[in-house]
Amino acid sequence: MKNLDKLLNDPKVKEAKKLLTEALSNHSRHIGKPKGPDPDLAQDFEKLLESYGQMRGGPLFYPYIGSGLGKGALVELMDGSVKYDFITGIGVHGFGHSHPDIISSSIDAALTDTVMEGHLQQNSDAYELTKLLIDISGLDHCFLSSTGAMANENALKICFQKKYPADRILAFERCFMGRTLALSQVTDKPMFREGLPLNQPVDYVPFYNPENPKESTELAVKTLTSHIDRYPGKHAAMSFELIQGEGGFNLGTPEFFKALMDILKDRGIPVMIDEVQTFGRTTKPLAFQHFGLEDYVDVVTIGKLSQACATLYKSHLKPGPGLLSQTFTTSSSAIRASKVIIEKLVSEGHFGEDGKNMAIHKYFVEKLKSIGKKHPGLVRGPYGIGCMIAFTPLDGGSAQVVDFARELFKQGVMSFIAGKSPVRCRFLVPMLAVTNHDIDKAAEIIEKTLLICKERHS
Ligand SMILES: Cc1ncc(COP(=O)(O)O)c(C=O)c1O
Repeated sequence: MKNLDKLLNDPKVKEAKKLLTEALSNHSRHIGKPKGPDPDLAQDFEKLLESYGQMRGGPLFYPYIGSGLGKGALVELMDGSVKYDFITGIGVHGFGHSHPDIISSSIDAALTDTVMEGHLQQNSDAYELTKLLIDISGLDHCFLSSTGAMANENALKICFQKKYPADRILAFERCFMGRTLALSQVTDKPMFREGLPLNQPVDYVPFYNPENPKESTELAVKTLTSHIDRYPGKHAAMSFELIQGEGGFNLGTPEFFKALMDILKDRGIPVMIDEVQTFGRTTKPLAFQHFGLEDYVDVVTIGKLSQACATLYKSHLKPGPGLLSQTFTTSSSAIRASKVIIEKLVSEGHFGEDGKNMAIHKYFVEKLKSIGKKHPGLVRGPYGIGCMIAFTPLDGGSAQVVDFARELFKQGVMSFIAGKSPVRCRFLVPMLAVTNHDIDKAAEIIEKTLLICKERHS
């Protein structure tokens, strides 16, 4: 047994973990259902929010500062309120709050020698995670990093280097890829690149429209071909978000993606899949596997639910020495949590057409549909797949949907907005924690909130 394993299996460590878990469960005993703020804490909380907004240079979207305690799908705020966390920080803690196995892996991480691992000095846990990601993805190489944006930057860098002197990228309209200087150009939101230098030429292809499958596929193929013909040899990659996250949980189909990827293969343009938001949420660990695109993929990025982020790629894209590096790999706790999350998703039956991710989807979607039936005109959709669920509330206009999301927060369920014309309300549910009971209760709150907002806007 390795020395560290001996330490982690030491009876004293096991006893300490047991005591810590008991203490945590004692101190989070009061978290059992959503509740409003404690009036005694309201004043201090307001001050905290104001001061935080002031320090960070702009107010928080929600009046949210967590206490650091939570239980499953529920989270506690500093004002003493408890909410269903159905957006999980936009995927930051997709496994739920205070999950005992994640806590255990964090304790293990805390007993290792450092906080952050660096690319010059990584521990055996980074090796094990890298191996696991290569195994589940079927790709040849894996480079770990600490944000989705960095994973995407690394993916683009290896494509650019391989396709030099190509300097353009292909991407879908309404895509989101991240917020670095280069990625702000690819992300299709004018507001996110306002005032920034145009440092990355991007050619956009329209996404699949489920209401017009044939026409939208033909339009995408025609647009892609005309971009490639206009700039022969100048495209380093096409980035695919197979389920558009920020775009509103729009799905393509295998036929749609293959029609485009066949052209890219034929023209020697690498296929890059951005799975930062989709990782772990569909019927397979990776959404490209869900859509059966294994033969087409050259490079894939993951993040969010995976905690540690990564760029996975085939060997023909292997970059020259020096192209990829950073100080931080990521934290030991993220690396260990990543492994636990992936192993649990597999061992607890989250994947497959009848797996838990799809069961959660079906249950939640049925609830939203029945609210829609009861109150015609208040719910459009639902959209998405697996543990990515969205719907269009009210009139779908930005003012009403933002108001709905804020009121829903106040009533006890956290969601977020996505898409444009119409705007949708989306949920990234904590699949390793959420129960049907949680979904029942959240659905009651969603219905109540829709009625409050309908009244307000009538
Ligand atoms: C599809 C997609 N790509 C990339 C990113 C960027 O990831 P990060 O915010 O971790 O840099 C996001 C974040 O929302 C995303 O949804």
